[in-house]
Amino acid sequence: MTSGATLKRRLTILGSTGSIGTNTLDVIRQLGGRSCFEIAAVTGNGNIELLAQQAMDVGAELAVTADERHYDSLKAALAGTGIEAAAGKSGLIEAAERDAGWVMAAIVGTAGLAPTLAAARRGADIALANKECLVSAGDLFVNAVTAGGGKLIPVDSEHSAIFQSLEDDQRHAVERIVLTASGGPFRTWSREQMAGVTADIARAHPNWSMGLKISIGSASMFNKALEMIEARHLFGVQPDQIEVIVHPQSIVHSMVGYTDGSVLAQLGCPDMRTAIGYALTYPLRTKLDVERLDFAKLSRLDFEAPDEVRFPALRLARTAMQRGGVQGAVMNAAEEIAFHAFVTGRIGFLEMADIAETVMESMADRAPALTMEDVFAADGEARARAEETISVNEKAA
Ligand SMILES: NC(=O)c1ccc[n+]([C@@H]2O[C@H](COP(=O)([O-])OP(=O)(O)OC[C@H]3O[C@@H](n4cnc5c(N)ncnc54)[C@H](OP(=O)(O)O)[C@@H]3O)[C@@H](O)[C@H]2O)c1
Repeated sequence: MTSGATLKRRLTILGSTGSIGTNTLDVIRQLGGRSCFEIAAVTGNGNIELLAQQAMDVGAELAVTADERHYDSLKAALAGTGIEAAAGKSGLIEAAERDAGWVMAAIVGTAGLAPTLAAARRGADIALANKECLVSAGDLFVNAVTAGGGKLIPVDSEHSAIFQSLEDDQRHAVERIVLTASGGPFRTWSREQMAGVTADIARAHPNWSMGLKISIGSASMFNKALEMIEARHLFGVQPDQIEVIVHPQSIVHSMVGYTDGSVLAQLGCPDMRTAIGYALTYPLRTKLDVERLDFAKLSRLDFEAPDEVRFPALRLARTAMQRGGVQGAVMNAAEEIAFHAFVTGRIGFLEMADIAETVMESMADRAPALTMEDVFAADGEARARAEETISVNEKAA
């Protein structure tokens, strides 16, 4: 490790082929590669060539594709390397249950919940990028981590910033959590302008380079909605203690306000490798080759209130938090279906929030989640209802 400190960690990367996954591998390379990190398993979905190459580059023991149709090509790509291949949901669980002390949870969407939960239950320390674990399963997920005995280190830049700004022995004095949001590419657009945008336009984030789902979610502010619920469970705060502020430069990654009026923030250039590096080496800090902030060149930092009329996702997150129980799972599942319908051209950009709200209203009376089965049942029902709503709308059009 370039800082001179010694670090030896055995790690599994769930979602290694994605935006967070590839950045994680870059950070590992910067920190010394195999001399600091032993890789137990890597996983992907459809990008088999990259997955096999990554497994060979880092000397992983196991590579898993979530899609069983790709098992043969993954096995063929790894032939003669000694690296095991596996596929499907059971393969993901196998990867999560390998005896790695640390797991980077970077699968996109609810597909990441079951394997991350499996890792949490066996006591792994979790570097958590997959926000859907907390949005859907909430305190059940946090309790599973606690019961397993592992740590939960946020990777989302906002939550990493809050985690870094929290003084451990002063948690009772936290008054508010302030999540910053870039506002995305449509920050100043009217609803009329947003109505006709395509996925290609919506995915062009002004500051961050990220995967498709989170980029579209940044444009609709659904990503911020998910982050509000994530923050509630991660930091144990009440819904009314969570504020969102639009900060177009994405330099202040988020803040914690204390009862004495102090506000602590974490700042940096918009580069996920800082939050990833922090999570992978926690509680150490180490040297990373990322751009440094040049305060003399930063002419200004702007902040503005979010507009919940143009971006109703924020309002939906508050509703989900106030209702509690499985409502996070319902909102998240409906939004995932709506997201896929948007990127495949079945619905317009603004309809994503409409679909999520329709499904949430139709399931507003659901009982609190007592078990993970309740969460998975609500998730499944919300997906079916979202699909049905989209089909009905298509037929009516
Ligand atoms: N990107 C960011 O900067 C960022 C920042 C903060 C938080 N996050 C969160 O981190 C998570 C990952 O985001 P990302 O942007 O890295 O996503 P991404 O680029 O789309 O990558 C997702 C990863 O999940 C895999 N995957 C896709 N569908 C899957 C399925 N059904 N089952 C199992 N694996 C599947 C992908 O495999 P293939 O590549 O083979 O398809 C890939 O390895 C999300 O929850 C996101 O909200 C991301």
